[in-house]
Amino acid sequence: MLLTDATAATRGVSCAAMAWFDRVRPRHDGALAATVGGIIDRVKHRNAALELDERDRLDGSACLVTGANRGLGLAIAKDLARRGGDLILACRSGLDAARADVASAAHERASVEARELDLARLSSVESFCDRLAADGVRLDVLVLNAGVVPREARKTEDGLDESFQVNVLANVLLVQRLRERGLFVAEEGVWPRVVVVSSESHRSAPPLDWDGFGSFRPWGMREAVKQYGYGKLLLQTWTAELARRTRGELAVHSLCPGAVRTDIGREAPGLTKPLLELTMRAFFVEPERAAAPAVYLAASRRLEHETGIYLHGKRRREPREDTLDADNGRRMWERSAALLEALGHPLAPAKERG
Ligand SMILES: NC(=O)c1ccc[n+]([C@@H]2O[C@H](COP(=O)([O-])OP(=O)(O)OC[C@H]3O[C@@H](n4cnc5c(N)ncnc54)[C@H](OP(=O)(O)O)[C@@H]3O)[C@@H](O)[C@H]2O)c1
Repeated sequence: MLLTDATAATRGVSCAAMAWFDRVRPRHDGALAATVGGIIDRVKHRNAALELDERDRLDGSACLVTGANRGLGLAIAKDLARRGGDLILACRSGLDAARADVASAAHERASVEARELDLARLSSVESFCDRLAADGVRLDVLVLNAGVVPREARKTEDGLDESFQVNVLANVLLVQRLRERGLFVAEEGVWPRVVVVSSESHRSAPPLDWDGFGSFRPWGMREAVKQYGYGKLLLQTWTAELARRTRGELAVHSLCPGAVRTDIGREAPGLTKPLLELTMRAFFVEPERAAAPAVYLAASRRLEHETGIYLHGKRRREPREDTLDADNGRRMWERSAALLEALGHPLAPAKERG
């Protein structure tokens, strides 16, 4: 009897704890808040399910993944290659090791190549796209995965904040150049897919500020997560606009993978690193599991002719409301184009695109 009561009481407490977790809206606007928020999200989404089956294959599909040499990008690339995709790994470092690692997981008929891409240099984005076009590459899937959390403001050779350039603007240039060069070709009515790895941290970011768009200002360690979240807010806003503008041409989806055990916190201050590593080991999921939503958006047959989906882990949600606002989307589109033009990388007018 005593045992039954104790079991029932434990169950009651654990149900109450789960209900509490389900009600909590985690914040991601500081390093500690983001870590705790990631853990809460993981518990909340424990039962979510969006599964692929063996028919969700990518045989003969060309899949490009940025930041594919480690962490989430490497896991996504391996899963896509296992499903038969021909992989192009776009990395700024570790190309040979990444190619070998993905090839070891790939389906026997899948090809794997690695190409250099440094998003912190717009000239690298240009030459990367030039080479793909010259080699006659056609893309079925593009996963914009690369991301960075610098510990302080750093100026790139283009004069931009590295966090803004790598997490936002370089992705805009990359996608627009690939479109201009005609690398996305819808075959038999199947739209090529663009999958954007975003983050729930966009929800805790400050409001969109169009006046300061892309301008460099110094900031320090305390602001690192806020800057990262703000970059993801801009990226999310651009993703929604891309989905609107390319309906009938591309399928554009985005996701937050949840809290993943990767090197994303590698620039965290030395003293906090051991704690972060312990927390990651205890509570964050391994990249192989966290890759599932990105792979689902890239490969699920059920999503044909859908665009604009946002997943948080394996759960479909809406991103923050202002990212879906058409006026914000138009501003994001125009400000990025104007900034790229000012930096010597003008985009072609829409009608000239392939
Ligand atoms: N980990 C999480 O909990 C979490 C949560 C939400 C969202 N995300 C998102 O998931 C994505 C992958 O991050 P991760 O967690 O796997 O982190 P990670 O282990 O640090 O991997 C980041 C990847 O981005 C690449 N990268 C960084 N700067 C680059 C540049 N200038 N040019 C080209 N590639 C660059 C890195 O290349 P190098 O190896 O050369 O540095 C690496 O391949 C990011 O977009 C991140 O925002 C992660």
